[in-house]
Amino acid sequence: MIIKLKLYKLDKYIIVFLVITKFSRDNMDEEYEKVGAIAAKVRKQAAKKITAGMKVVDFIDWIESEVTKTGAGLSFPCNISINEIAAHYTSPVNDDTVFCNGDIVKIDLGGEINGFISDTAVTVVVEGDNIEPVDEDGKPLKMPGRFDDGNPVVTEDDLEERYNLIEASSNALENVLSIVKDGVTLNEIGKTVQDTIQSYGFTPIINLAGHSLEQNNLHAGVSIPNYPDGSTHELKEGDHVAIEPFASSGSGITSEVQQHYIFSFMNNKPLRNPQAKILLKNISKNNRYFPFAQRHVKTSMDDSKFARAMRPLIMAGCIYPHAVLKDNANGMVAQTEHTVIVEKDGCKVTTL
Ligand code: CO
Repeated sequence: MIIKLKLYKLDKYIIVFLVITKFSRDNMDEEYEKVGAIAAKVRKQAAKKITAGMKVVDFIDWIESEVTKTGAGLSFPCNISINEIAAHYTSPVNDDTVFCNGDIVKIDLGGEINGFISDTAVTVVVEGDNIEPVDEDGKPLKMPGRFDDGNPVVTEDDLEERYNLIEASSNALENVLSIVKDGVTLNEIGKTVQDTIQSYGFTPIINLAGHSLEQNNLHAGVSIPNYPDGSTHELKEGDHVAIEPFASSGSGITSEVQQHYIFSFMNNKPLRNPQAKILLKNISKNNRYFPFAQRHVKTSMDDSKFARAMRPLIMAGCIYPHAVLKDNANGMVAQTEHTVIVEKDGCKVTTL
């Protein structure tokens, strides 16, 4: 009798627990869907808006403000990676880089609501009239290696290859989405990405990966490979993941460029440098959970003061600097990305 009563009580607790768990998971998924729809809308608008001659920093400012004006936060600085740059470029303050006709541009953006995240990317080829590589005052604009006598060095063959790269990465994502469900292994996903991209004659980038998402955590531990890495790890119903195949016409391996425009807060440590101390306190309060750029730190420090205060923070491991990543062989790169919720028999894409 006592045992039975105990079991009965336990059952009740289990039912209450399951109901609460289900309720909070539905609520959470609602937030994922809401912030996913915001990112998807901005991504589509951005792909239409980009044009030759536009400054990268203006484009990024516009994208980020479209996200934040909805009341959502940014889950990372908008990444705009051009040509052989695969990822992790965002504008430093006063960036005078402009888009050129024929550039293949990765637009990677995301939002967060109550810490629940969206992460999505599309790649486009920039169109528009060729522009003179100088600004209104005749000052040369930054377009290293991209102009020859005032014209972009992009042939018809180059353009065809760039459009094919985009198709390869977006088809790879589509094929992956058709197999994602409870129980799919990471190896199966990676194989699908690789097979699709290789069928176009390109290579996937093997040292860049998608990632699991959790509240306030953009990279929550599980990496979603872009090649069959042998992993038997299975995605489970209720998992939230960002899947992002990268197709390259080069080596398929990226290396770090010694430029760092995106940072992550890691931890607090006692510091002697007073400016560094102030900056860390500010960042740990306002930029604690999500990667940020200098543009997102609310400080009155000018550029050089900011750089001087950041150095000891990076040295001490309080701040992690994300290096710009480019294809090793300077091949062109395309990326397509969606955020998905894994379901029993399929998946729900939150960023469609
Ligand atoms: Co991502």
